[in-house]
Amino acid sequence: MFEPINYSGNREEGYQLALQQLSALVEGEADVIANLANASALLNHFLEEINWVGFYLWKEGELVLGPFQGLPACIRIPYGKGVCGTAVKEKRTMLVANVNEFPGHIVCDAKSKSEIVIPMISNGNVVGVLDIDSPVFNRFDETDQYYLEKFVEVLMANFK
Ligand code: SME
Repeated sequence: MFEPINYSGNREEGYQLALQQLSALVEGEADVIANLANASALLNHFLEEINWVGFYLWKEGELVLGPFQGLPACIRIPYGKGVCGTAVKEKRTMLVANVNEFPGHIVCDAKSKSEIVIPMISNGNVVGVLDIDSPVFNRFDETDQYYLEKFVEVLMANFK
């Protein structure tokens, strides 16, 4: 059983603990949907000041909504569109301090003010993205980026 905990201590210690929890959750489990569902629940439990966290998976030339926590969201995102489609195109993390200033940002939840999108890359190919929205401007910084990229690495080690 998963024990909810209080991530006390500094932010990096919290992330390290959450990373250990993620490794334990996905270890030995090959089902992608199950692992992404648990990963989104874990991040929703751990991260403060967020209103949406989840995955889009690359399917036949576009991103399709995968496991997430938050309000119902747009289902399909084309290559190069929005923050998510741009992360796929550029194969790099998008750290957006103010979504209103990101050209072509796709609004799924009107509360979202800032966003981070991390591409999931397997053998050089983007297979999806991790997308997190916050109701406050400038919520995510380089520390979040560093550890969330590690999160995705753990998931990718198990991704088939
Ligand atoms: N804002 C994203 C769309 C997905 S939602 O935030 C869940 C984008 O611009 O790609």
